[in-house]
Amino acid sequence: MRLFNMPPQIVRLCLVTIGIVGSYLVARAVLTPPSFREYGFFRGDALKDIMALPPQYGGKVSCDECHSDQFTKLNKGGHKRLSCEVCHGPGYAHTQSPDAGMHKPTFTVCSKCHEANPSRPKTHKQIVLKEHYAGGKCMECHVPHSPAEVP
Ligand code: HEC
Ligand code: HEC
Ligand code: HEC
Ligand code: HEC
Repeated sequence: MRLFNMPPQIVRLCLVTIGIVGSYLVARAVLTPPSFREYGFFRGDALKDIMALPPQYGGKVSCDECHSDQFTKLNKGGHKRLSCEVCHGPGYAHTQSPDAGMHKPTFTVCSKCHEANPSRPKTHKQIVLKEHYAGGKCMECHVPHSPAEVP
């Protein structure tokens, strides 16, 4: 086969290229979900899917309604930047119906943030667990909602 006087191997190469690019374009048109690129390089409908999931966290302010003592205390002390749920775990279900219960952490939660670790900023208060009143349960000497306070 000779087309525009081109050598046959070039014509075949062109046909193969057109075949590959063409099947790519067809597959793209068929397989791309309709909401893709609605807002950006993702499926627009993904936002609706995520919004339909049940929320996990209630947020700090939501706790104030029923636990204003703890809320006020926490916001005055050294832990004021922490959210409640960082220690108590996700609590949306509990804010909707208190019977759902809430995790009450033990002192083991403290070492997650305060155990000495060279990768943490120097300004963050850290203790070497084995040296800092070894064997003591942190809450014997620190109030979790106001950590500088002595219980
Ligand atoms: C609608 C009111 C309400 C909201 C909002 C609420 N709680 Fe509670 N919470 C309660 C009640 C009622 C109890 C049970 C009180 C009791 O047993 O003394 C409780 C108990 C608790 C307990 C103690 C559990 C135990 O085993 O002793 C913790 C911890 C707690 N809530 C944390 C939170 C946190 C954190 C939030 C915010 C994410 C929150 N609560 C939001 C009403 C609420
Ligand atoms: C640094 C971790 C931490 C943070 C942040 C924190 N809590 Fe607690 N919370 C604890 C621990 C630990 C206990 C258990 C105290 C105990 O057993 O003596 C507790 C106990 C409680 C209790 C049970 C009653 C009591 O006072 O002992 C409630 C209610 C509570 N927290 C609510 C909150 C709320 C609301 C917030 C946010 C405003 C909050 N907590 C933030 C660690 C924390
Ligand atoms: C989610 C991380 C986190 C957890 C969990 C946590 N802390 Fe803290 N703690 C902090 C931050 C942030 C500060 C603020 C100062 C800093 O960066 O060192 C702080 C400050 C402190 C201070 C110094 C208070 C001051 O006013 O100078 C003490 C003491 C302390 N925490 C004890 C505890 C104890 C006891 C527990 C367990 C009940 C605990 N922390 C759990 C993050 C945490
Ligand atoms: C027997 C009492 C006692 C026990 C138990 C105790 N602490 Fe302390 N903690 C203190 C005292 C007193 C200070 C202040 C002086 C100092 O640094 O020794 C302090 C200071 C701290 C500080 C601030 C350090 C700094 O650089 O300013 C942190 C963080 C801390 N403790 C966390 C904890 C944690 C986490 C636990 C549990 C593993 C714990 N503590 C157990 C008495 C105690």
